[in-house]
Amino acid sequence: MSGEKFYITTPIYYPSDKLHIGHSYCTVATDAMARYKRMQGCDVMFLTGTDEHGQKIQEKAEAAGVTPQQYVDQVVSGIQDLWKLMNISYDRFIRTTDDYHQESVQKIFRQLYEQGDIYKSVYKGKYCTPCESFWTETQLVDGKCPDCGREVHDAEEESYFFRLSNYADRLLEYYREHPDFLEPASRLNEMINNFIKPGLEDLCVSRTTFNWGVPVDFDPKHVVYVWIDALSNYITALGYGNSRYHDFEKYWPADVHFVGKEIVRFHSIIWPAMLMALKLPLPKKVYGHGWLLLEGGKMSKSKGNVVDPAILCERYGVDAIRYFLLREFPFGSDGVFSNEALISRINADLANDLGNLVSRSVSMVEKYFGGTLPAERQAGPEDEPLLEMARALKDRYTEQMEKYQFQNALIETFKLVSRTNKYIDETAPWVLGKEESGRARLAAVLYNLLDMLRLASICLTPFMPETAAKIRAQIGAAEEICTYDALGQVGLLPAQVTVHKGETLFPRIDMEKELAALEAAQHPAAKEEAPAPKKKEEKAPAPAGIITIDEFAKVELRVAQVTACEPVPKADKLLRLELDDGSGQTRQVVSGIAAWYRPEDLLGKKVMVVANLAPAKLRGVVSNGMILAADTDGAARVIFVDDSVPCGAKVR
Ligand code: MSP
Repeated sequence: MSGEKFYITTPIYYPSDKLHIGHSYCTVATDAMARYKRMQGCDVMFLTGTDEHGQKIQEKAEAAGVTPQQYVDQVVSGIQDLWKLMNISYDRFIRTTDDYHQESVQKIFRQLYEQGDIYKSVYKGKYCTPCESFWTETQLVDGKCPDCGREVHDAEEESYFFRLSNYADRLLEYYREHPDFLEPASRLNEMINNFIKPGLEDLCVSRTTFNWGVPVDFDPKHVVYVWIDALSNYITALGYGNSRYHDFEKYWPADVHFVGKEIVRFHSIIWPAMLMALKLPLPKKVYGHGWLLLEGGKMSKSKGNVVDPAILCERYGVDAIRYFLLREFPFGSDGVFSNEALISRINADLANDLGNLVSRSVSMVEKYFGGTLPAERQAGPEDEPLLEMARALKDRYTEQMEKYQFQNALIETFKLVSRTNKYIDETAPWVLGKEESGRARLAAVLYNLLDMLRLASICLTPFMPETAAKIRAQIGAAEEICTYDALGQVGLLPAQVTVHKGETLFPRIDMEKELAALEAAQHPAAKEEAPAPKKKEEKAPAPAGIITIDEFAKVELRVAQVTACEPVPKADKLLRLELDDGSGQTRQVVSGIAAWYRPEDLLGKKVMVVANLAPAKLRGVVSNGMILAADTDGAARVIFVDDSVPCGAKVR
């Protein structure tokens, strides 16, 4: 771990003047991983950049009346500014228009041609003249151009082809031998069944109908296909085929390429085949993350439904946005972005749980001890469960981070934060503070609060670097005791630690007011232009006994793990369960299944819980929701969920 190299990449972005929050998702995740690995002492190379060639860029530049180079220069600096704003700590930024990259791409193309992996032939397909685009039969939409909807005609273009078909068997063999090469695993099945098994065709890798690309040096009327150009960036940026950099030997193969799910195909089929042809090792992993969606589909500029990360960072601070992106959505799955979800998450986790804990703890040290704790401390019975959880945190957090399960790593961290808040209730420092005899105990309690915050700040460093530093400043924790190694030990704060009260980390947001203000900031013109709200379309009522999808959608089903279970006293049929539903708070549910299950049958199991059921009291015990069970001839059979599904996952 410490001293090991770690090479991680984002895709290189198409130059666009408006990168949206969906684009930031991948970069923020990569940044969190890079920071985590640096924290572990690894020698990290974090690469990102821009993918600047191709017909579309050429057209955009023409429309703007500038050269393609002028066009990309302008836009790329905007992208770099966004990464600065989002606190992205990349080590290298590659532009596919950089000379050294182009030189390497030409060498790669030539080598593949000379060894027979690339050959010249004729590309036959459908052509859309206004768009100057070739399409295959299957790409057409209703027999027309998928871009502009106009008629297409048969056409031919002299092209170079990469013998991708030769690599199908080797790819399958590689996947078999390296089952973790592509994750999540479902994406691998998709690649095999949808692309490789139906038969891989050779890939057209040069174009002659536009010239904004890397010229094929031995046949300059051709430019290299953008994906061959783009994928090569992962090695050219290390100096492969050029003398600009010299760390190819050190960093290649990449430890992981993070990519959005729609470009998994390029990274898990074309890229490995290219590397096989170049006789280079393959990346250790390709991780295909999900998309951030808005209600109504994928964010896209052409649909006009994008969310601007700069507006969000300005209103809530970059750390809140980074946290939200990685806490709200499981990394491998799609997630629906909404302003409500963002504000709720900030309020619940950052303002209430974390922010409050920091300000309460620091204020109490000031109030009862003038800001510096005394060395005399008296341990108490409430300490051990808290400290035990704290001691387990490093392993639990690390396990999730190593699997790129950022959401779970944050859930583990916030379990400690919530547990620490509970510890305040258990120990009641305000009572201890009243008596002189309680001072040593009070000092121990407050010391533990600060020490737990130290641990949380370490775990949060990759996600919220500025907040983590602010917490440390407030609790008086020096950097040496906030390292990854120090995460494994409790009690590292100095005995007479001094706190420094600072600003409120995350002020609570008034949801209603803020939603209106945010909407106005995101769509400034919408208010005036918006047509009068349409009356909701009357939907036909569902037939008796049938519910509509909207009615079903009202039921919030979530996966939760049973963390404690016991019989309800004087109630033969009832069990009281404590559930981890991913919210960071323990959920208590009472269930009438005692006749069929003993507590130990349920402990540790994952179940489905109806999470938005109105609370009810059963034999005096409050039940927040119910767990789902099947009724088989009058006997209840709890519906258990596969252990791989994370707590809090929504069931749909
Ligand atoms: N240039 C190619 C990548 C070449 S890599 C050798 C490209 N660029 S992109 O700008 O269109 O996308 C960059 C990344 O942003 C991709 O991983 C893409 O999946 C991601 N996202 C774009 N919109 C997204 C969402 N709405 N949600 C999550 N990620 C999304 O593809």
